[in-house]
Amino acid sequence: MENKGITILGIESSCDDTSAAVIRDGMILSNVVANQRVHEEYGGVVPELASRAHQQNIIPVVETAIKRAGIDRNEISAVAFTRGPGLLGSLLVGTSFAKGFSLALNVPLIEVNHLQGHVLALFIRENGVDYNPPKFPFLCLLVSGGNSQIILVRDHLHMEVIGQTIDDAAGEAFDKCAKVMGLPYPGGPHVDKLAKEGNPLRFEFSRPRIPGLDYSFSGLKTNFLYFLRDEIRKNENFVEENKADLCASLQYTIIEILLNKLKKAAKETGIKEITVAGGVSANSGLRNALMENAKKHHWNLIIPKFEYTMDNAAMIAITGYYKFLKQEFVEQSTVPFARTQL
Ligand code: KG4
Repeated sequence: MENKGITILGIESSCDDTSAAVIRDGMILSNVVANQRVHEEYGGVVPELASRAHQQNIIPVVETAIKRAGIDRNEISAVAFTRGPGLLGSLLVGTSFAKGFSLALNVPLIEVNHLQGHVLALFIRENGVDYNPPKFPFLCLLVSGGNSQIILVRDHLHMEVIGQTIDDAAGEAFDKCAKVMGLPYPGGPHVDKLAKEGNPLRFEFSRPRIPGLDYSFSGLKTNFLYFLRDEIRKNENFVEENKADLCASLQYTIIEILLNKLKKAAKETGIKEITVAGGVSANSGLRNALMENAKKHHWNLIIPKFEYTMDNAAMIAITGYYKFLKQEFVEQSTVPFARTQL
């Protein structure tokens, strides 16, 4: 067969998105994401429903990704899959599918750490789009529904977590506070939208006092909850009447917490190459704050394309590509894991 380059099929199923993508020599050919709407009425992801939805989605999602890429499945050089961290039942669906597919195609299997995938999303090439990846070493603020971390990236496959949340993630703080205001799940984008109309200095919420570069968001969440409870006792329409100011003040606090530690990390390491990843990086207030700080502190700031900041398989495929170059393959006996460090 004609050599068409290194073609990686990536599979992501760690939470509530089933995704498959094809990347050839680092260039994206397709990225298909099926969101699961089944969780909306519960106000959060229900693990058992997530794994069942992954089972229904995985075959059509992979088929579509291969079709959109315009390739034949025999051109696939390796199958990369998210091994963890994530929901175990969900991870099992993607892992089992990837194993079966690699066996059927007789190609190697590559395990990918979901967090590493978020970081390497910055290296996805797109046809007709300027390629502007960060230079090593760089710092990545990884903020998603399940993680808040500052990662020191030395090269594609060598990363070190230098700060992380000791309890809730930034996305969780957005989602849980949004829930108590009666906003739909996931609440982050709704808070972002409402915050644009509100006064960020109207209400003051608590900030954690955690040493070093670690984060904590559970105190803010509790403070927000009790504040609303007390105000609603005095005025049952308090949330409705102050929603925009509540969202703006909450968002302002979360961004300040995130930026304070990031600034500290940049100062301590002397690194001015700064990137951001994960679903919360879609937040317009966070993007503005990062840009302001970049100007002030002379950072070279790289914000990835929105599509690749959320959970997606393109980031799994690009990580698979770099692992393929190093021939880092795994056996069929590999099992997923729910929790991990980089
Ligand atoms: O990385 P991601 O897609 O996957 C998980 O880790 O699950 O991140 C999802 C998180 C959710 O908490 C969601 O509320 C948050 O990203 N998010 C936002 C925004 N868009 C998504 N948070 C604040 N502002 C946004 N615009």
